[in-house]
Amino acid sequence: MRNFDLPALGAGIGLRSEHYDEIRETRPDVGWFEVIPENFLGRGGYVAKALKEIAAEYKCVAHGVGLSIGSTDPLDMAHLKALRGLLDLIDSPWYSDHLCFTMVDHVNLNDLIPLPFTEEAIRHVAERARVVQDILERPLLLENVTYYAAPSRSQMGEAEFITRLLEAGNCGLLLDVTNVCLNAKNQEYDPIEFIESIPLDRVGQLHLAGYEDHAHVTLDTHSQPVSEDTWALYRAVIERIGRTSALVEWDVEVPSLERLLDEQRAAQRLMDDVCIGAKAS
Ligand SMILES: [Fe+2]
Repeated sequence: MRNFDLPALGAGIGLRSEHYDEIRETRPDVGWFEVIPENFLGRGGYVAKALKEIAAEYKCVAHGVGLSIGSTDPLDMAHLKALRGLLDLIDSPWYSDHLCFTMVDHVNLNDLIPLPFTEEAIRHVAERARVVQDILERPLLLENVTYYAAPSRSQMGEAEFITRLLEAGNCGLLLDVTNVCLNAKNQEYDPIEFIESIPLDRVGQLHLAGYEDHAHVTLDTHSQPVSEDTWALYRAVIERIGRTSALVEWDVEVPSLERLLDEQRAAQRLMDDVCIGAKAS
């Protein structure tokens, strides 16, 4: 298996409301757009029209923030049903969300809370991942999140947790390369050792982003150009997995479309350089 048997779409960018008009007017050369379904569910008018038009021209892939796969609340079946409708509408080849929980006792904490790395969490999330994939009828990729304190009561390391969970739930990994860099800094581990300890054949997509360095912690802010250490780790990942789908995330202080496309082009160039170089050698 390569790229979790998903199409390698090259480099893409997130679809943000600031850019809807410009995208429709200028039709930029970009591999694909990542769409946050929660921005569109239940919406009509201008927003729905923009999505429909852009999805007719470009490959769009949904990346959710509301699944709360790790929560002990029951899965929200109404949300999953609505989500399925949106994924069909944009013809999303896969669906991704975060390996975390956001809901506690039906209250949305509006944050991505990491799970403890335990046997119980593996069983719980894997079972729910299978249900989600049955309902959505497409592969589910779970994204590794940042954590600023080691989750309590953990029985294993993060790499083992991710590996066993993906296998138990038969799902793929959205490998957020920047999150690996941040966790490696904050938790003091080697990022290369980490990527070599996870099942790279289950990686179907990457995220690349910028972050903010503070005195005692590095924060996952998505408010900057892609950081240098992310580019270096991205290269290391591409050298190991080949062509894939890589998404530049920049959702806070969103820059101009052209500036965002500069980052996307850099991601595409690096992927091409590594893959063409690998073929030639
Ligand atoms: Fe991400």
